[in-house]
Amino acid sequence: MAANKKLLILPGDGIGPEVMGEVRRVIDWADKRRHISFDISEDLAGGCAIDTHGVPITDKTMETAMSVDAVLLGAVGGPKWDGIDFNIRPEAGLLRLRKDLELFANLRPALVFNALAEASSLKTELVAGLDIMILRELTGGVYFGEPRGIETLPDGQRRGVNTQVYTTSEIERVARVGFDLARKRDNRLCSVEKANVMESGLLWREVVTELHQAEYSDVELSHMLADNCGMQLVRNPKQFDVIVTDNLFGDMLSDVASMLTGSLGMLPSASLGPADESGRRRAMYEPVHGTAPDIAGQSKANPLATILSYSMMLRYSFDMAEDADLVDKAVENVLDSGLRTGDIMQPGKTLASTGQMGDAVLAELDKLAA
Ligand code: IPM
Ligand code: MG
Repeated sequence: MAANKKLLILPGDGIGPEVMGEVRRVIDWADKRRHISFDISEDLAGGCAIDTHGVPITDKTMETAMSVDAVLLGAVGGPKWDGIDFNIRPEAGLLRLRKDLELFANLRPALVFNALAEASSLKTELVAGLDIMILRELTGGVYFGEPRGIETLPDGQRRGVNTQVYTTSEIERVARVGFDLARKRDNRLCSVEKANVMESGLLWREVVTELHQAEYSDVELSHMLADNCGMQLVRNPKQFDVIVTDNLFGDMLSDVASMLTGSLGMLPSASLGPADESGRRRAMYEPVHGTAPDIAGQSKANPLATILSYSMMLRYSFDMAEDADLVDKAVENVLDSGLRTGDIMQPGKTLASTGQMGDAVLAELDKLAA
């Protein structure tokens, strides 16, 4: 028998441990009922790691992260660590994971569940049935570009610098993931930059166009300026299938897209590295929501985004589409049944705690697998 797949779970801070607790229950269920077994290790990342080790992620934890088949992350950060030095903040742990694991392709689906279409801030007809995928470049651009820093000028002023920089290979590899994703969906890719003001954007557009002509002419490709894309996302989001864009624009546009769905608490994400010779990719899965310190520890958090992140892991790291579909369907049925955590509560629905939401997902899984 093949060895179990290895998982590293990093619950993190705030509501991270609570939502991850519910995922652990789904993992246990899959172990018993579907014979999907993982060797699981759990460790600290973010503020909790700062409190214990003085750094947001230790070298030892990084070593484990490098060696496993997939990392599942809750969320990191919180007001408690706000004042501390930039490069040892909780977020620095997350950025180190992304950079050292070379997770250049960040998949952020924005999917509207029918039961939640009315929870969107947009008119229901604009978002009902929405299913778009934002593909964000995650290891380059202004997040990591050099030079960076804050310096003091001779006249006493201070000057803050960050650098937006992309190479052809960085653009090409993420565009390739975008075209491949489009082929498995509605076959349309929209590439987003600011080619009208930024050289890096102009290069982005040229590289994507060349790759399209050379290898992906069957996919419908369009280009859009990032500001227009923000506007189009709130005007007519269903025009999009897959959007591929850089690190910073992707950060912003994925937040915009998430709000279309009615709740940040529903959205999963996957971050993938380059494929090795055997086709295996390093990968990390995490909910898009943050640590929600205001409700942490109160059993109010919505565990569905993290449960859906686990489902993405089954789909993208382990090629278990059938089991991923099962989890997605269970989540959909729970929403259809009218159960809601506070973040997606609507009049006439039933308010559930984090654990009750987990219970309901497990009950649906039992039914679906029966
Ligand atoms: C995200 C977050 C992060 C980012 C922060 C927490 C560093 O906003 O994953 O979208 O800016 O990438
Ligand atoms: Mg963000």
